[in-house]
Amino acid sequence: MVRRIFMLAVMGFFLGTGLAQADEFTRKDLEKWQKAFMAVVKEGERLFHSPLGSNKVSCDMCHPNAANTHPETYPKFQKQLGRVATLRDMINWCIQNPLEGKPLPLDDPRMIALEAYITWERRGVPLAPGKH
Ligand code: HEC
Repeated sequence: MVRRIFMLAVMGFFLGTGLAQADEFTRKDLEKWQKAFMAVVKEGERLFHSPLGSNKVSCDMCHPNAANTHPETYPKFQKQLGRVATLRDMINWCIQNPLEGKPLPLDDPRMIALEAYITWERRGVPLAPGKH
């Protein structure tokens, strides 16, 4: 009984502060967010098939449909970089090396689009950070 009263008091506290309120959204919100997300994925796909460096090489030439990019294994130790790296670091490594281009700022919309496309192509694969 005392325990029950205690629980009610705790619930009351959270309700009072608004913490127990679920973040509410409508089906329309979901559709809007999904549309915005898929537009970024599509832009990433376009970039993935475009020359982004100083030569005419594009990502898809070595990674058709983002194959062998393994986004689910990041962050992980990358021997090319000699440290634990993120997917964005490896996207930049390929822009600088095979594509002979300048690295993108990590928060560049093009970087986010490339990440969105690469991870979308691997949706459903279990996360395996650190895996080789
Ligand atoms: C000339 C071939 C080539 C091109 C073009 C290329 N890559 Fe790569 N990519 C590689 C090689 C080689 C590796 C290193 C594989 C390894 O050891 O992880 C790699 C690794 C990667 C990885 C990490 C893969 C892993 O298993 O951890 C990602 C992500 C990646 N590339 C993305 C890109 C993106 C994005 C582009 C275009 C900007 C691109 N690559 C263009 C050859 C290429």
